[in-house]
Amino acid sequence: MSEPAEDPDVVSRRIARESLDQDDPTGWFERLYSAALDGTAVVPWDRGAAHPLLMEWAEESQPDGSGKSALIVGAGTGWDAELIADLGYDTTAFDISPSAVEAAQRNHPDSTVRYVTADLFAPPAEWQRAFDLVIEIYTVQALPIELQPAAIKQVGEQVGPGGTLVVIAAARPDDRPDDAVEGPPWPLTRATIESFATPDLRLIQVIQSPSPAGPTIQRWRAEYLRT
Ligand SMILES: C[S@@+](CC[C@H](N)C(=O)[O-])C[C@H]1O[C@@H](n2cnc3c(N)ncnc32)[C@H](O)[C@@H]1O
Repeated sequence: MSEPAEDPDVVSRRIARESLDQDDPTGWFERLYSAALDGTAVVPWDRGAAHPLLMEWAEESQPDGSGKSALIVGAGTGWDAELIADLGYDTTAFDISPSAVEAAQRNHPDSTVRYVTADLFAPPAEWQRAFDLVIEIYTVQALPIELQPAAIKQVGEQVGPGGTLVVIAAARPDDRPDDAVEGPPWPLTRATIESFATPDLRLIQVIQSPSPAGPTIQRWRAEYLRT
């Protein structure tokens, strides 16, 4: 009798833990996506659809993307990028993992989105303050807490004049200390959500709502405007 296949969720967690234990906080993404392409792991955050809070933002805001550009941070398998492209934005979506980019291209063969491999900590210079819309969903929280301030700064730096930033993240109570969080993920406090703002990137809306996964899990949807 053959051995039963290992639980893909267990495989994902083990891949993450091995990288983090080797002080390689982003290496596990490529290992996970490449194992998923081989069918030996699953990507736990791959919803097969755009994030519900991004859909909600799009329904409420009714943005017209024609003639505008958008950047999707840590785009994974591409579902959020496709929603934004469908709103008319000229959309670029990037991920540090080449296998994630390959999966996104495979998932969306007729896409108008430019899927590229890039590192949020060293983005192409031409992206700086270049986009009318920047979408960040669950990338910052996937990074250890000590890396989050640098990641947050880079997310904001890609928003062009008059542009909008939308951030969606799991929420953590402000009184829960950093060392009580065993990530990944490392959900964001309200203070961390507020820290995306700068004097000319104003926080204009922040909403906390329960996750469909259970009322004890809260999520942020925040919007910022570059003046
Ligand atoms: C938790 S996943 C979320 C993916 C997607 N945004 C979603 O919500 O489905 C975090 C993503 O960020 C990517 N990522 C992590 N560090 C990154 C970095 N430094 N630069 C670009 N992408 C990164 C990972 O490869 C992964 O696809």
